[in-house]
Amino acid sequence: MDPRLQRRVQRYGWDKAATYYDQYWAEQLAPAQDRVLAMAQIRNGEWVLDVACGTGLVTFRAAESVGPGGRVVATDISDVMVQRVTEIAAQRGMPQVTAERSDAEEIIQGDETFDVVLCALGLMYVVDPLRALEQMRRVLRPGGRVAVAVWGQRSRCGWAEIFPIVERRVASDVCPLFFQLGSGDALQYALARTAYEDIEVERISATLSYDSGESACGAAFAGGPVALPYSRFDPPTRDEVHAEYLTSIAPYRRGDGYEVPGEFVIARATR
Ligand SMILES: C[S@@+](CC[C@H](N)C(=O)[O-])C[C@H]1O[C@@H](n2cnc3c(N)ncnc32)[C@H](O)[C@@H]1O
Repeated sequence: MDPRLQRRVQRYGWDKAATYYDQYWAEQLAPAQDRVLAMAQIRNGEWVLDVACGTGLVTFRAAESVGPGGRVVATDISDVMVQRVTEIAAQRGMPQVTAERSDAEEIIQGDETFDVVLCALGLMYVVDPLRALEQMRRVLRPGGRVAVAVWGQRSRCGWAEIFPIVERRVASDVCPLFFQLGSGDALQYALARTAYEDIEVERISATLSYDSGESACGAAFAGGPVALPYSRFDPPTRDEVHAEYLTSIAPYRRGDGYEVPGEFVIARATR
């Protein structure tokens, strides 16, 4: 695994996926995002850092909770995601939201700045999640809270074949340890290793509903973590990977659509 390649695949892949992300993922990820926000218990006037913010699905809900007197800083490795959040903040008239490009492993904000750090479905993509958790702890004020969500155990995520299907065609280093934090007590252990306290962990089941094979493939390829290698496939290769992916989720076919099982692990802890 080449860490620089993995970061580039993330950065430029999510630039491409940004256009499709809300269409394919907003509804699917809502159960995990709801729990992250509930566990964070964000209060009016607080300062929040949203790491790996994507299009801001969590950012703007946090901004409602902090109100005009608080502050939400959204960061992401993808320029396009950061631009999107900046534009939405302007459209919605939410000056309490700002967005900047920053790698979760190299958070640019100063020590002890935030009351809350959020990271919804972002930690699986970073090269060194422990380093990212340490960085999140560094920018938390003493007593501040972190709330994170990751995908759960691989065997409970029915869409997991997407990675080998792509990697059989291109050595892409998409995210080699994607399901690592979702196994067993790994997330609890990672938080304890990075000196967090009062750790609470929940595991929840979810169903990813797609009304057609086309939307299942859109979410998996153009709108998700393999967007960069997928963008370089020629049309016959795209047809092949679509067919292989639909075969892998065939057990979850319901009529014209698919009801694919998924699992999330959500945790909160304090500094
Ligand atoms: C599945 S999206 C989650 C977005 C958002 N938190 C949500 O809940 O909708 C994953 C995001 O992680 C970002 N990401 C990947 N690697 C990253 C890194 N090393 N540092 C910061 N962000 C990263 C991607 O650019 C992408 O926007």
